[in-house]
Amino acid sequence: MSDKKESGLARGLTNYGDRDFSIYLRRSFASSMGYSRDMLSKKIVGIAYTPSGYNNCHRHFPEMLEAVKRGVLTAGALPVEFPTISLGEVFLNPTSLKFRNLMSMDTEEMIRAQPMDAVVLMGGCDKTVPAQLMGAVSADMPAVQIVAGPMMTSRHGEERLGACTDCRRFWGKYRAGEIDKGEIDTVEMRLATTAGTCAVMGTASTMACIAEALGMSLPGTAAIPAVHADRLRAAEATGAAAVNLIGQPVRPSQVITRDSVENALRVLLALGGSTNAIVHLTAIAGRAGIDIPLTWLNELSDTTPVLVNLKPVGSHYMEDFFHAGGLGAVLRELKPLLNLDCLTVTGDTLGDRLEQPSEPADRAVISSAQSPLEPKGGLVALFGSLAPRGAILKRSAADDTLFEKEGRAVVFSSLEDLAQRIDDLDLDVTADDFLVLQNAGPTSPSGMPEAGYLPIPKKLSSQGVKDMVRISDARMSGTAFGTIVLHVTPEAAQAGPLALVRNGDRLRLSVKNKTIDLMVDDDELERRRADYKSSARDAATLRGYDKLYAEQVLQADEGCDFAFMKPVRDE
Ligand code: FES
Repeated sequence: MSDKKESGLARGLTNYGDRDFSIYLRRSFASSMGYSRDMLSKKIVGIAYTPSGYNNCHRHFPEMLEAVKRGVLTAGALPVEFPTISLGEVFLNPTSLKFRNLMSMDTEEMIRAQPMDAVVLMGGCDKTVPAQLMGAVSADMPAVQIVAGPMMTSRHGEERLGACTDCRRFWGKYRAGEIDKGEIDTVEMRLATTAGTCAVMGTASTMACIAEALGMSLPGTAAIPAVHADRLRAAEATGAAAVNLIGQPVRPSQVITRDSVENALRVLLALGGSTNAIVHLTAIAGRAGIDIPLTWLNELSDTTPVLVNLKPVGSHYMEDFFHAGGLGAVLRELKPLLNLDCLTVTGDTLGDRLEQPSEPADRAVISSAQSPLEPKGGLVALFGSLAPRGAILKRSAADDTLFEKEGRAVVFSSLEDLAQRIDDLDLDVTADDFLVLQNAGPTSPSGMPEAGYLPIPKKLSSQGVKDMVRISDARMSGTAFGTIVLHVTPEAAQAGPLALVRNGDRLRLSVKNKTIDLMVDDDELERRRADYKSSARDAATLRGYDKLYAEQVLQADEGCDFAFMKPVRDE
């Protein structure tokens, strides 16, 4: 007999060939944890719980968990947390992106395999929220996301410090000889001082806002600082909201639709959010069978203003964004551009939410749509002979004097080559050149790390050069800034034109035309192609997850998901 309609502890029984025995045995073992029969007869809210000694951003999760559980219990269900992989951004080799899909599979399968009627997803650090949303979409169980919330800022002399835009800014000063070893050691201890995710509009904060814009987390929760009492109240409310979803037609497949994805793209553009978010949103939407062509991003980018004055694009931090009105204030400014009928995990639509009264926004942090920071969105996709399937530039974090420019290529064939030569004082490079990094894409040995923020060569940084055009198939941290062309697709390791660039070639960037071109004639490119050797890892020589990854990972324009994780489409 199918147990599909069962609920609570009787859902998804372990198969011993005798259904009644299975439920008797399960109840017996669950009782051993001290639950009463009354508790075990309730509906269950699973809590995907991701604290880890390797994840500083989630160090307050035990306290948040208690609040989620309180909310679930008060609303009449039984909360049961379960662990999944946790991904602490700076503790993973070669890069956290490689493990996002693994975490999504872990999340999906544990939601599906264990008895629960709804799930709360507790994530925060960069890849954890996309992984959980990908898993939740694939499992299609009623789900509510609650994020870690951002860190508070700290101080260094007169300056505020917040991870991790200031990490890079101070490291740049140290490389340029503007501050000494003693000062950089002091700064190191002051950059990240509380629980929570990076304090700027980096990837974690962008994904928190995207989760809320999609309708997958409760209104007003994306920006609450990690250590603020409101975050615990949000966690409690999230637990209760998950209970309310049980039996309702509000599953991820009904919340994450083409219209809500469009809303999320608008929000990404208005935030001047992380370039990583386009990869993650593509992967999340892809699990729901929704494609995000980069041409769509460009159409929306041309009609979406940048509204948020946060680092790395502007000057404020996430705690300021929270006090300024948070994502709600952004959504109200974008209202005429949004699809208001989209369902959210509250059971209300986005339009219902935006009808609610609100406090006025702080215009120093969140601009009005009438006088935006920039008239066009923060991200733009570039196409051309260097990137036939596209590349991404965060124009809001770039130097616009470099937007229409032709330059000479200075090529690094790998991350190792870059590390060896970038500070060589004999390197043939000028500030007008384009730095090009090859073989740092998804199938390269480095697995598409956040290495696209190529350092300015020492001989130029010591002369005061702060920005140059830099091009790669890598990613960039959401906390970084500069005129940086990323995610060049196809990547060099898949024979993309990027692999054929040689020192001295001419390259042309035009942000106005949304193009990036390699100005080498076709015959010469064909000659070079004859000598091409891929740097991609040979799956036949690999085992385990490395093998799965090498065989299955898709290119950046498909969200770097695994091919076999896409939904099976009806023909
Ligand atoms: Fe976790 Fe930045 S290191 S969000």
